Amino acid sequence: MLLRRWIATGVAAVATLGALNTLPATAGHQPNPADQSLRTLGMRHDLFIGTAVDMAALNDPADPQYRQLTASQFSTVTAENVMKWESLEPTRGVYNWGPADELIAFAKQNNQRVRGHVLVWHNQLPGWLTSGVADGSISTAELRDILKNHITNVVKHFKGKIWQWDVVNEAVSDPWDTPSTLHYKGFWAQHLGPDYVADAFRWARAADPKALLFYNDYNIEAFGSGDPANDKTQFVYDMAKQLLAAGVPIDGVGSQGHLGTQYGNFDTLQVAAALKKFADLGLATAFTEVDVRSQITEAMENGDSNEINPRLQASAANYSVLLQACLADRHCLSFTVWGFTDKYSWVPNWFGSEGLANIYDENYQPKRAYNLMKGDLIYSGAPYVLPRIPQRPRR
Ligand code: G3I
Repeated sequence: MLLRRWIATGVAAVATLGALNTLPATAGHQPNPADQSLRTLGMRHDLFIGTAVDMAALNDPADPQYRQLTASQFSTVTAENVMKWESLEPTRGVYNWGPADELIAFAKQNNQRVRGHVLVWHNQLPGWLTSGVADGSISTAELRDILKNHITNVVKHFKGKIWQWDVVNEAVSDPWDTPSTLHYKGFWAQHLGPDYVADAFRWARAADPKALLFYNDYNIEAFGSGDPANDKTQFVYDMAKQLLAAGVPIDGVGSQGHLGTQYGNFDTLQVAAALKKFADLGLATAFTEVDVRSQITEAMENGDSNEINPRLQASAANYSVLLQACLADRHCLSFTVWGFTDKYSWVPNWFGSEGLANIYDENYQPKRAYNLMKGDLIYSGAPYVLPRIPQRPRR
């Protein structure tokens, strides 16, 4: 009898202990993780999940869903266009801070961090600058001063409000450019020589000692041949190493992550290895502009699921590769998508016959990619995925 009671008590105790071990005290009241936002799930790993923001869409009263999802799903925002030079200073000496300030206010209201994009880039420069250089009315010496003033004014204006600045963007050529040997390309290198890169970081640091200063580029998700003559990741790695050796205050490298399903792309291990190499230099990393586009065929336009589904799956898999790699490296601080809905993507405008690049469709239905990202954030943790290590701005 006693034995039976002891056994019964023992069984109950073991059962209770078992339940305690596997279920949290609030089980039953636990929210389904799949119902949580990307930003909430990212915080499990101290990882900020971001989006580029199109200010026209954000301010469109006819499209409240854009604003609602920007606020609810993301913990960091980037201006898609309104912090670029042509937007900030369309007329020489006359700054238009309005739209960028609006984004900063929106971010504050929604408890979001801001990535500043972009201080130095060869695209979207104001006409007065490019034509002044072309017609000789702006000399090289003056151009350098203009760049220094621009960086100083912009960084000071936003001082204390920007988490990460893309200080220099896309300074390196691609293997399909002429000459094909990788080199510093574009307006700034042509007119000032490659030293403008180091100068830009120093000027930005002088204007805001606390913002993290990033170099940002595309096609640097993984290492290839390792030859800087044709491996862009290697070229950027060598550049970052040289900048650090020279005491230049660079804090991070942003990998844009513009991928296409028609290309070979990478697996998680290759991307994680690349992030680790940059982290081993003492740099933070981030994915800064992720989207994964596909070629759109006539059959797809007619709704042929045989052609649509593999592309949606492949797009989702590529998002997942980049996100898993970022999760795996504690110095990868944020994962930003370049717009979240196909409704406003830059891709069809730029590539014509390509699209379906984002994580929501044009009607704000979450796609396979959105759910795969959530799965990655939910089903990861110790020992291989650990909380982020914050980066201290380098002096
Ligand atoms: O603002 C004008 C508008 O007044 C005019 O009516 C309209 C007509 O075409 O053009 C509008 O400007 C467009 C601008 O986006 C704002 O929508 C430009 O034509 C268009 O070229 C510009 O494209 C931007 C592109 O950078 C320019 O280089 C994309 O929105 C933006 O997503 C894209 O972002 C870049 C990152 O900054 C750097 N990395 C690559 C990424 C994708 O190209």
